[in-house]
Amino acid sequence: MIISNLQRVMAIATVATLGLGATAAFAVDSSPLVINDEETIATHAPAAPFLENLDEVISGWAFRSTETQALQLDDFDNPGMIFVDQAIDEWTKVDGTAGKSCAACHTGGPEEFAGLRATLPKWNEEKQALYTMEDYINECRTERMGAEAWSWSGASMTAMNALISLQSRGMTVNVATDGPVADMWEQGKEIYYTRVGQLDLSCANCHENNYGNMIRADRLSQGQVNGFPTYRLKNAKLNSIQGRFKGCMKNVRATPYKVGSDEFRALELYVSSRGNGLMVESPSVRN
Ligand code: HEC
Ligand code: HEC
Repeated sequence: MIISNLQRVMAIATVATLGLGATAAFAVDSSPLVINDEETIATHAPAAPFLENLDEVISGWAFRSTETQALQLDDFDNPGMIFVDQAIDEWTKVDGTAGKSCAACHTGGPEEFAGLRATLPKWNEEKQALYTMEDYINECRTERMGAEAWSWSGASMTAMNALISLQSRGMTVNVATDGPVADMWEQGKEIYYTRVGQLDLSCANCHENNYGNMIRADRLSQGQVNGFPTYRLKNAKLNSIQGRFKGCMKNVRATPYKVGSDEFRALELYVSSRGNGLMVESPSVRN
């Protein structure tokens, strides 16, 4: 199965175009991620039954170089934590016409949100919509604070997202795929397996059929989102999930969907659920 898919990819995109090597030159690091010498985060887990082509799900951390991995081993070395500190300041800052800060209402502190990240995105009954972390934060800003919405992948949003996601670090990803989100989940799955762009590649071609292999100078992971928002060495900031999707679509020279679009929401739901069983490790560090 894997071999035939790989051959298909190779047939479509030549090795020369992509530098996609069939040689699985590395054994995937199966050691757990131990943060601050005390918090053990499993980086491998059995795949959810709906993942027909995978036995195991693996965190992107396991595919990175030793140097990049090391940055996530200690919160003092993790550049993502600088933004978490900024969000802690933001938490108590009054903003908007209601004269409120996050702290004014969420009196238990960001710790109130422990567990939330592991379940997102999820159905919001009241709004009758699929909600991402960005939606929850902006709903409070616009409807409860009378403040302006933050831009989806902007510095304030990704920092607050990281602070809230951090409260779920080490918790097992458990995103619901049924009930009111079932149709969106199917749509997300379809997008995941549809080839797009001049290179005519789907998410699955790279992240399901070729993880562990090299593409140009980079090593392909399963494209999991359990570590988002992610600090990337490449752009020296925190990156949103949908911002990353956009980058991957551009790389295959497809016109990316917009952040916050129905398509990317569906894709975020599907991709997040592919990580069910892994642990939240936000904010992660990647190249
Ligand atoms: C005026 C009060 C108020 C302010 C100010 C406020 N929130 Fe909220 N927030 C709420 C209420 C009410 C809810 C919905 C009920 C709940 O789940 O706690 C909520 C829900 C949330 C949720 C979803 C919680 C969940 O588990 O479903 C998040 C995340 C959140 N707020 C973040 C923030 C952030 C970040 C700020 C500051 C930028 C903020 N809120 C400001 C009142 C507020
Ligand atoms: C041409 C191959 C290719 C395709 C197609 C592709 N990606 Fe990627 N993607 C990469 C590379 C290379 C990276 C960086 C190394 C890695 O983590 O795999 C990456 C990284 C990611 C990451 C970050 C993983 C982490 O641990 O931080 C996510 C999430 C992701 N891709 C999702 C997607 C989605 C969703 C699609 C389909 C819309 C997609 N990718 C299509 C090549 C691809």
